[in-house]
Amino acid sequence: MAQNALDYFLHALGALFRMRRIYPQGSKQVLQSARQTSQRLAEWKRPVRITFLGNDTIVEDRRIENLPVSFRALFQSLQQLGFESVQIEADAGEDDLTAWIENVVSKGRPPYRGSKITAGSLKLEKQTDPDSVLTEAVMGYMGFLAQAQEVISDLESKKPEGLVRAREVVCAIVARLAVGRDLFEPIREMKNFDDYTFTHALNVCVLSSALAQALQVSDEMVNAIAMAALCHDLGKKEVPKEILNHRGPLAPEQWLLMQKHPSCGARLLLDIPGVESANPLLPVVAYQHHMGANQSGYPKVQKNLPQHTLHFASLLVAIADVYDALRTVRPYRPALSVAKTSTILIKDASAGKLHKEYVSRFLILLNVLVPGRRVALSDGSHGMIVETHAGYPLCPVVSDEHGKVRDLSVPSSPAIIEVEEESAERIFIEASHETVSTQPNP
Ligand SMILES: [Fe+2]
Ligand SMILES: [Fe+2]
Repeated sequence: MAQNALDYFLHALGALFRMRRIYPQGSKQVLQSARQTSQRLAEWKRPVRITFLGNDTIVEDRRIENLPVSFRALFQSLQQLGFESVQIEADAGEDDLTAWIENVVSKGRPPYRGSKITAGSLKLEKQTDPDSVLTEAVMGYMGFLAQAQEVISDLESKKPEGLVRAREVVCAIVARLAVGRDLFEPIREMKNFDDYTFTHALNVCVLSSALAQALQVSDEMVNAIAMAALCHDLGKKEVPKEILNHRGPLAPEQWLLMQKHPSCGARLLLDIPGVESANPLLPVVAYQHHMGANQSGYPKVQKNLPQHTLHFASLLVAIADVYDALRTVRPYRPALSVAKTSTILIKDASAGKLHKEYVSRFLILLNVLVPGRRVALSDGSHGMIVETHAGYPLCPVVSDEHGKVRDLSVPSSPAIIEVEEESAERIFIEASHETVSTQPNP
Protein backbone atom coordinates (compact mmCIF):
# COMPACT_ATOMS: atom_id res chain seq x y z
CA MET A 1 0.00 0.00 0.00
CA ALA A 2 2.75 2.42 1.07
CA GLN A 3 4.80 1.50 -1.99
CA ASN A 4 1.81 2.35 -4.16
CA ALA A 5 1.83 5.83 -2.64
CA LEU A 6 5.44 6.27 -3.76
CA ASP A 7 4.62 5.03 -7.27
CA TYR A 8 1.67 7.40 -7.43
CA PHE A 9 3.93 10.26 -6.41
CA LEU A 10 6.49 9.44 -9.11
CA HIS A 11 3.69 9.18 -11.63
CA ALA A 12 2.28 12.56 -10.54
CA LEU A 13 5.74 14.17 -10.65
CA GLY A 14 6.32 12.93 -14.18
CA ALA A 15 2.88 14.15 -15.19
CA LEU A 16 3.66 17.59 -13.73
CA PHE A 17 6.79 17.82 -15.86
CA ARG A 18 4.92 16.81 -19.02
CA MET A 19 2.09 19.20 -18.20
CA ARG A 20 4.54 22.10 -17.81
CA ARG A 21 6.12 21.30 -21.15
CA ILE A 22 2.72 21.57 -22.81
CA TYR A 23 1.19 24.46 -20.85
CA PRO A 24 2.80 27.76 -19.84
CA GLN A 25 4.23 28.55 -16.44
CA GLY A 26 1.52 29.42 -13.92
CA SER A 27 -1.31 28.01 -16.07
CA LYS A 28 -4.28 26.36 -14.40
CA GLN A 29 -3.29 22.93 -15.71
CA VAL A 30 0.23 23.16 -14.30
CA LEU A 31 -0.96 24.45 -10.92
CA GLN A 32 -3.56 21.70 -10.66
CA SER A 33 -0.97 19.06 -11.53
CA ALA A 34 1.43 20.52 -8.91
CA ARG A 35 -1.33 20.36 -6.31
CA GLN A 36 -1.98 16.70 -7.09
CA THR A 37 1.73 15.93 -6.91
CA SER A 38 2.12 17.53 -3.49
CA GLN A 39 -0.95 15.61 -2.29
CA ARG A 40 0.65 12.36 -3.47
CA LEU A 41 3.82 13.29 -1.61
CA ALA A 42 1.81 14.01 1.53
CA GLU A 43 0.26 10.54 1.23
CA TRP A 44 3.74 8.99 1.03
CA LYS A 45 4.61 10.99 4.20
CA ARG A 46 8.39 10.61 3.85
CA PRO A 47 11.18 12.38 1.99
CA VAL A 48 11.96 10.98 -1.43
CA ARG A 49 15.51 10.54 -2.63
CA ILE A 50 15.86 9.61 -6.27
CA THR A 51 19.25 8.61 -7.64
CA PHE A 52 20.04 7.98 -11.27
CA LEU A 53 22.81 5.51 -11.98
CA GLY A 54 23.23 4.82 -15.66
CA ASN A 55 19.89 3.49 -16.82
CA ASP A 56 18.77 2.64 -13.30
CA THR A 57 16.61 4.72 -11.04
CA ILE A 58 17.09 4.14 -7.33
CA VAL A 59 14.39 5.39 -5.00
CA GLU A 60 14.86 4.88 -1.30
CA ASP A 61 17.73 2.43 -1.90
CA ARG A 62 15.50 0.32 -4.11
CA ARG A 63 15.98 -0.04 -7.83
CA ILE A 64 12.71 0.75 -9.54
CA GLU A 65 12.04 -2.09 -11.96
CA ASN A 66 9.07 -0.60 -13.68
CA LEU A 67 9.58 3.10 -13.83
CA PRO A 68 6.20 4.73 -14.52
CA VAL A 69 6.08 5.66 -18.21
CA SER A 70 4.95 9.14 -17.20
CA PHE A 71 8.16 9.64 -15.24
CA ARG A 72 10.54 8.71 -18.06
CA ALA A 73 10.58 12.09 -19.84
CA LEU A 74 11.53 13.84 -16.58
CA PHE A 75 14.14 11.16 -15.86
CA GLN A 76 15.70 11.62 -19.31
CA SER A 77 15.74 15.41 -19.04
CA LEU A 78 17.41 15.28 -15.63
CA GLN A 79 20.04 12.88 -16.91
CA GLN A 80 20.73 15.02 -19.98
CA LEU A 81 21.18 18.07 -17.78
CA GLY A 82 23.70 16.22 -15.62
CA PHE A 83 21.57 15.60 -12.52
CA GLU A 84 22.32 12.39 -10.68
CA SER A 85 20.22 12.73 -7.58
CA VAL A 86 17.17 14.57 -6.29
CA GLN A 87 16.12 14.94 -2.65
CA ILE A 88 12.53 16.01 -2.04
CA GLU A 89 11.50 16.72 1.55
CA ALA A 90 8.28 15.17 2.82
CA ASP A 91 6.68 18.59 3.29
CA ALA A 92 7.59 20.00 -0.15
CA GLY A 93 4.57 21.97 -1.31
CA GLU A 94 3.23 22.74 -4.75
CA ASP A 95 5.31 25.95 -4.93
CA ASP A 96 8.50 23.98 -4.24
CA LEU A 97 7.58 21.43 -6.88
CA THR A 98 6.66 24.00 -9.54
CA ALA A 99 9.82 26.02 -8.88
CA TRP A 100 11.98 22.93 -9.35
CA ILE A 101 10.09 21.73 -12.43
CA GLU A 102 10.45 25.25 -13.86
CA ASN A 103 14.19 24.93 -13.41
CA VAL A 104 14.22 21.60 -15.24
CA VAL A 105 12.06 22.92 -18.08
CA SER A 106 14.31 25.94 -18.47
CA LYS A 107 17.26 23.51 -18.64
CA GLY A 108 18.92 24.68 -15.42
CA ARG A 109 22.08 22.72 -14.77
CA PRO A 110 23.21 21.20 -11.46
CA PRO A 111 23.09 22.02 -8.65
CA TYR A 112 19.53 23.06 -7.80
CA ARG A 113 18.96 24.20 -4.24
CA GLY A 114 15.42 25.00 -3.19
CA SER A 115 14.34 25.08 0.46
CA LYS A 116 12.59 21.69 0.17
CA ILE A 117 14.14 20.23 -2.95
CA THR A 118 17.82 19.83 -3.76
CA ALA A 119 19.23 18.21 -6.85
CA GLY A 120 22.69 17.84 -8.23
CA SER A 121 25.42 15.60 -9.41
CA LEU A 122 26.68 13.14 -6.80
CA LYS A 123 30.14 14.73 -6.88
CA LEU A 124 28.82 18.23 -6.33
CA GLU A 125 26.56 17.16 -3.51
CA LYS A 126 29.47 15.63 -1.64
CA GLN A 127 31.60 18.73 -2.09
CA THR A 128 28.77 21.20 -1.50
CA ASP A 129 30.96 23.84 -3.07
CA PRO A 130 28.97 26.47 -4.93
CA ASP A 131 32.19 28.49 -5.35
CA SER A 132 33.65 25.88 -7.69
CA VAL A 133 30.54 26.07 -9.85
CA LEU A 134 30.88 29.85 -10.03
CA THR A 135 34.59 29.57 -10.79
CA GLU A 136 33.83 27.26 -13.70
CA ALA A 137 31.16 29.64 -14.97
CA VAL A 138 33.50 32.64 -14.66
CA MET A 139 36.20 30.80 -16.58
CA GLY A 140 33.75 30.04 -19.37
CA TYR A 141 32.65 33.67 -19.35
CA MET A 142 36.23 34.96 -19.48
CA GLY A 143 36.93 32.74 -22.49
CA PHE A 144 33.98 34.28 -24.31
CA LEU A 145 35.04 37.74 -23.18
CA ALA A 146 38.47 37.38 -24.79
CA GLN A 147 36.83 36.22 -28.03
CA ALA A 148 34.26 39.03 -27.91
CA GLN A 149 37.09 41.51 -27.50
CA GLU A 150 38.82 40.21 -30.63
CA VAL A 151 35.58 40.23 -32.61
CA ILE A 152 34.72 43.80 -31.62
CA SER A 153 38.23 45.02 -32.36
CA ASP A 154 38.09 43.36 -35.80
CA LEU A 155 34.71 44.85 -36.59
CA GLU A 156 35.70 48.29 -35.35
CA SER A 157 38.50 48.08 -37.93
CA LYS A 158 35.92 46.98 -40.52
CA LYS A 159 37.62 43.62 -41.10
CA PRO A 160 35.20 41.17 -42.75
CA GLU A 161 36.78 38.21 -40.89
CA GLY A 162 35.28 39.75 -37.74
CA LEU A 163 31.86 38.67 -39.05
CA VAL A 164 32.95 35.03 -39.28
CA ARG A 165 34.48 35.12 -35.80
CA ALA A 166 31.41 36.85 -34.40
CA ARG A 167 29.24 34.08 -35.80
CA GLU A 168 31.48 31.41 -34.24
CA VAL A 169 31.48 33.09 -30.82
CA VAL A 170 27.73 33.63 -30.65
CA CYS A 171 27.01 30.08 -31.82
CA ALA A 172 29.14 28.81 -28.92
CA ILE A 173 27.38 31.17 -26.47
CA VAL A 174 23.91 30.19 -27.69
CA ALA A 175 24.78 26.48 -27.56
CA ARG A 176 25.98 26.89 -23.98
CA LEU A 177 22.80 28.75 -23.00
CA ALA A 178 20.70 25.97 -24.49
CA VAL A 179 21.90 23.57 -21.79
CA GLY A 180 22.00 25.91 -18.80
CA ARG A 181 22.22 29.41 -17.42
CA ASP A 182 25.66 29.28 -15.85
CA LEU A 183 26.80 32.23 -17.99
CA PHE A 184 24.31 34.33 -16.03
CA GLU A 185 26.36 33.84 -12.86
CA PRO A 186 29.37 35.98 -13.88
CA ILE A 187 26.97 38.65 -15.17
CA ARG A 188 25.39 38.68 -11.72
CA GLU A 189 28.68 38.68 -9.84
CA MET A 190 31.05 40.86 -11.85
CA LYS A 191 29.67 44.32 -11.26
CA ASN A 192 33.00 46.07 -11.06
CA PHE A 193 34.80 44.79 -14.08
CA ASP A 194 37.26 47.20 -15.68
CA ASP A 195 36.61 46.79 -19.35
CA TYR A 196 33.02 47.90 -19.61
CA THR A 197 32.91 48.03 -23.41
CA PHE A 198 33.52 44.32 -23.83
CA THR A 199 31.73 43.02 -20.74
CA HIS A 200 28.67 45.09 -21.66
CA ALA A 201 28.69 43.75 -25.24
CA LEU A 202 29.03 40.16 -24.01
CA ASN A 203 26.41 40.57 -21.26
CA VAL A 204 23.87 42.08 -23.65
CA CYS A 205 24.62 39.24 -26.08
CA VAL A 206 24.08 36.55 -23.41
CA LEU A 207 20.92 38.16 -21.99
CA SER A 208 19.38 38.89 -25.41
CA SER A 209 20.07 35.33 -26.59
CA ALA A 210 18.52 33.85 -23.46
CA LEU A 211 15.46 36.07 -23.89
CA ALA A 212 15.15 35.10 -27.56
CA GLN A 213 15.38 31.42 -26.58
CA ALA A 214 12.73 31.94 -23.91
CA LEU A 215 10.46 33.49 -26.56
CA GLN A 216 11.05 30.37 -28.65
CA VAL A 217 12.26 32.08 -31.79
CA SER A 218 14.07 29.85 -34.29
CA ASP A 219 17.66 28.79 -33.60
CA GLU A 220 18.83 30.72 -36.65
CA MET A 221 17.17 33.89 -35.37
CA VAL A 222 18.61 33.42 -31.86
CA ASN A 223 22.09 33.33 -33.41
CA ALA A 224 21.36 36.41 -35.52
CA ILE A 225 20.07 38.32 -32.48
CA ALA A 226 23.06 37.23 -30.40
CA MET A 227 25.43 38.59 -33.04
CA ALA A 228 23.50 41.85 -33.35
CA ALA A 229 23.50 42.24 -29.55
CA LEU A 230 27.26 41.73 -29.44
CA CYS A 231 27.71 44.57 -31.95
CA HIS A 232 24.94 46.91 -30.74
CA ASP A 233 27.23 49.61 -29.31
CA LEU A 234 29.98 49.50 -31.92
CA GLY A 235 29.25 53.16 -32.72
CA LYS A 236 30.58 54.21 -29.30
CA LYS A 237 34.00 53.96 -30.89
CA GLU A 238 33.21 57.40 -32.31
CA VAL A 239 32.18 58.89 -28.94
CA PRO A 240 35.02 60.50 -26.94
CA LYS A 241 35.98 58.50 -23.80
CA GLU A 242 35.46 61.52 -21.55
CA ILE A 243 31.82 61.61 -22.61
CA LEU A 244 31.35 57.85 -22.15
CA ASN A 245 32.82 58.05 -18.63
CA HIS A 246 31.46 61.46 -17.75
CA ARG A 247 30.38 61.93 -14.15
CA GLY A 248 27.00 63.58 -13.76
CA PRO A 249 24.57 64.77 -16.42
CA LEU A 250 25.94 65.42 -19.89
CA ALA A 251 26.02 68.94 -21.31
CA PRO A 252 23.63 69.36 -24.29
CA GLU A 253 26.44 69.20 -26.86
CA GLN A 254 27.92 66.08 -25.19
CA TRP A 255 24.48 64.48 -25.17
CA LEU A 256 24.12 65.17 -28.89
CA LEU A 257 27.41 63.37 -29.53
CA MET A 258 26.32 60.44 -27.39
CA GLN A 259 23.06 60.19 -29.32
CA LYS A 260 25.01 59.72 -32.52
CA HIS A 261 26.40 56.30 -31.53
CA PRO A 262 23.46 54.28 -32.99
CA SER A 263 23.80 55.84 -36.45
CA CYS A 264 27.63 55.72 -36.26
CA GLY A 265 27.40 52.02 -35.38
CA ALA A 266 25.00 51.26 -38.24
CA ARG A 267 27.21 53.12 -40.69
CA LEU A 268 30.37 51.39 -39.46
CA LEU A 269 28.71 47.98 -39.81
CA LEU A 270 27.38 48.76 -43.29
CA ASP A 271 30.94 49.64 -44.33
CA ILE A 272 32.10 46.08 -43.59
CA PRO A 273 32.06 44.10 -46.85
CA GLY A 274 29.48 41.31 -46.75
CA VAL A 275 27.70 42.45 -43.59
CA GLU A 276 24.22 42.38 -45.09
CA SER A 277 24.51 38.85 -46.38
CA ALA A 278 26.24 37.70 -43.17
CA ASN A 279 23.57 39.16 -40.89
CA PRO A 280 21.27 41.99 -42.02
CA LEU A 281 20.18 42.53 -38.41
CA LEU A 282 23.54 43.99 -37.38
CA PRO A 283 23.06 47.56 -38.67
CA VAL A 284 19.33 47.45 -37.86
CA VAL A 285 19.80 46.70 -34.17
CA ALA A 286 22.77 49.06 -33.88
CA TYR A 287 20.57 51.84 -35.27
CA GLN A 288 17.36 51.05 -33.37
CA HIS A 289 18.42 49.91 -29.90
CA HIS A 290 17.77 53.32 -28.23
CA MET A 291 14.67 54.26 -30.22
CA GLY A 292 12.25 52.87 -27.65
CA ALA A 293 9.23 50.70 -28.45
CA ASN A 294 7.14 53.89 -28.72
CA GLN A 295 9.94 55.67 -30.59
CA SER A 296 10.36 58.28 -27.89
CA GLY A 297 14.11 57.70 -27.87
CA TYR A 298 16.82 58.35 -30.44
CA PRO A 299 17.62 58.63 -33.31
CA LYS A 300 14.37 60.35 -34.23
CA VAL A 301 12.72 59.25 -37.44
CA GLN A 302 11.70 62.04 -39.76
CA LYS A 303 8.01 62.75 -39.54
CA ASN A 304 7.51 62.69 -43.30
CA LEU A 305 8.66 59.08 -43.55
CA PRO A 306 6.07 56.29 -43.43
CA GLN A 307 5.47 54.73 -40.01
CA HIS A 308 8.79 53.27 -38.95
CA THR A 309 8.56 49.84 -37.39
CA LEU A 310 11.21 48.56 -35.03
CA HIS A 311 12.50 45.05 -35.56
CA PHE A 312 11.62 42.81 -32.60
CA ALA A 313 15.33 42.00 -32.22
CA SER A 314 15.93 45.69 -31.42
CA LEU A 315 13.20 45.53 -28.77
CA LEU A 316 14.82 42.50 -27.14
CA VAL A 317 18.32 43.95 -27.21
CA ALA A 318 17.01 47.25 -25.75
CA ILE A 319 15.78 45.41 -22.64
CA ALA A 320 19.04 43.50 -22.10
CA ASP A 321 20.94 46.75 -22.76
CA VAL A 322 19.11 48.77 -20.10
CA TYR A 323 19.29 45.91 -17.62
CA ASP A 324 23.03 45.40 -17.98
CA ALA A 325 23.83 49.11 -17.98
CA LEU A 326 21.93 49.67 -14.73
CA ARG A 327 23.35 46.56 -13.05
CA THR A 328 26.94 47.60 -13.69
CA VAL A 329 29.08 50.03 -11.73
CA ARG A 330 29.83 53.13 -13.81
CA PRO A 331 32.17 56.02 -13.03
CA TYR A 332 29.16 58.26 -12.39
CA ARG A 333 26.96 55.89 -10.29
CA PRO A 334 26.94 52.58 -8.40
CA ALA A 335 25.35 49.41 -9.74
CA LEU A 336 21.64 49.13 -9.02
CA SER A 337 20.15 46.06 -7.36
CA VAL A 338 18.12 43.51 -9.33
CA ALA A 339 14.96 44.82 -7.64
CA LYS A 340 15.65 48.45 -8.52
CA THR A 341 16.64 47.57 -12.07
CA SER A 342 13.48 45.47 -12.49
CA THR A 343 11.36 48.35 -11.20
CA ILE A 344 12.88 50.62 -13.82
CA LEU A 345 12.22 48.06 -16.57
CA ILE A 346 8.59 47.80 -15.46
CA LYS A 347 8.25 51.57 -15.35
CA ASP A 348 9.72 51.93 -18.84
CA ALA A 349 7.48 49.13 -20.12
CA SER A 350 4.40 50.82 -18.63
CA ALA A 351 5.44 54.09 -20.29
CA GLY A 352 5.75 52.30 -23.64
CA LYS A 353 9.50 52.75 -23.93
CA LEU A 354 10.19 49.04 -23.61
CA HIS A 355 8.09 46.20 -25.00
CA LYS A 356 5.80 45.11 -22.17
CA GLU A 357 5.53 41.44 -23.06
CA TYR A 358 9.26 41.00 -23.59
CA VAL A 359 10.03 42.78 -20.29
CA SER A 360 7.61 40.45 -18.57
CA ARG A 361 9.29 37.40 -20.09
CA PHE A 362 12.72 38.80 -19.25
CA LEU A 363 11.79 39.27 -15.59
CA ILE A 364 10.42 35.73 -15.43
CA LEU A 365 13.67 34.49 -16.96
CA LEU A 366 15.63 36.33 -14.28
CA ASN A 367 13.44 34.85 -11.53
CA VAL A 368 12.05 38.27 -10.63
CA LEU A 369 8.38 38.00 -11.60
CA VAL A 370 7.89 34.64 -9.95
CA PRO A 371 5.85 33.38 -6.99
CA GLY A 372 7.27 34.60 -3.69
CA ARG A 373 8.53 37.97 -4.96
CA ARG A 374 7.22 41.00 -3.05
CA VAL A 375 5.89 43.96 -5.02
CA ALA A 376 4.30 47.35 -4.41
CA LEU A 377 1.12 48.24 -6.28
CA SER A 378 -0.12 51.50 -7.72
CA ASP A 379 -2.93 51.79 -5.14
CA GLY A 380 -0.37 51.97 -2.33
CA SER A 381 -0.72 48.36 -1.21
CA HIS A 382 2.03 45.74 -1.03
CA GLY A 383 1.87 42.05 -1.70
CA MET A 384 3.51 38.87 -2.83
CA ILE A 385 3.23 37.25 -6.25
CA VAL A 386 1.45 33.92 -5.93
CA GLU A 387 0.93 33.06 -9.58
CA THR A 388 1.96 34.38 -12.98
CA HIS A 389 -0.39 34.45 -15.96
CA ALA A 390 0.71 33.50 -19.41
CA GLY A 391 -0.43 36.09 -21.90
CA TYR A 392 -0.89 38.89 -19.34
CA PRO A 393 2.45 40.67 -19.17
CA LEU A 394 3.32 42.21 -15.83
CA CYS A 395 -0.09 41.18 -14.41
CA PRO A 396 0.44 38.30 -11.97
CA VAL A 397 -1.88 37.23 -9.16
CA VAL A 398 -0.78 38.93 -5.94
CA SER A 399 -1.70 38.27 -2.32
CA ASP A 400 -1.77 41.67 -0.58
CA GLU A 401 -0.81 42.57 2.99
CA HIS A 402 -4.38 41.83 4.14
CA GLY A 403 -4.26 38.35 2.62
CA LYS A 404 -6.58 39.35 -0.21
CA VAL A 405 -5.73 37.63 -3.50
CA ARG A 406 -5.82 40.08 -6.42
CA ASP A 407 -5.62 39.18 -10.06
CA LEU A 408 -3.83 42.11 -11.71
CA SER A 409 -4.97 41.02 -15.17
CA VAL A 410 -8.52 42.08 -14.29
CA PRO A 411 -9.30 45.52 -15.79
CA SER A 412 -9.12 48.41 -13.29
CA SER A 413 -6.76 46.42 -11.05
CA PRO A 414 -3.70 48.28 -9.75
CA ALA A 415 -0.38 47.80 -11.52
CA ILE A 416 3.01 46.79 -10.14
CA ILE A 417 5.04 49.94 -9.57
CA GLU A 418 7.94 48.48 -7.66
CA VAL A 419 9.74 45.19 -7.19
CA GLU A 420 10.79 45.12 -3.55
CA GLU A 421 14.24 44.18 -2.36
CA GLU A 422 14.53 40.59 -1.23
CA SER A 423 16.01 41.65 2.11
CA ALA A 424 13.83 43.16 4.83
CA GLU A 425 15.06 46.61 3.95
CA ARG A 426 12.93 48.28 1.29
CA ILE A 427 14.55 50.72 -1.07
CA PHE A 428 12.37 52.98 -3.09
CA ILE A 429 13.22 54.22 -6.53
CA GLU A 430 13.93 57.88 -6.64
CA ALA A 431 11.89 59.94 -9.01
CA SER A 432 14.92 60.97 -11.01
CA HIS A 433 15.94 57.49 -12.15
CA GLU A 434 17.49 56.64 -15.48
CA THR A 435 15.29 55.57 -18.34
CA VAL A 436 15.80 53.84 -21.62
CA SER A 437 15.37 56.65 -24.04
CA THR A 438 16.59 59.72 -22.28
CA GLN A 439 19.89 58.63 -20.76
CA PRO A 440 23.14 57.63 -22.37
CA ASN A 441 23.00 54.17 -20.86
CA PRO A 442 26.63 53.71 -21.88
FE1 LIG B 1 23.80 52.05 -26.99
FE1 LIG C 1 24.54 49.35 -24.79
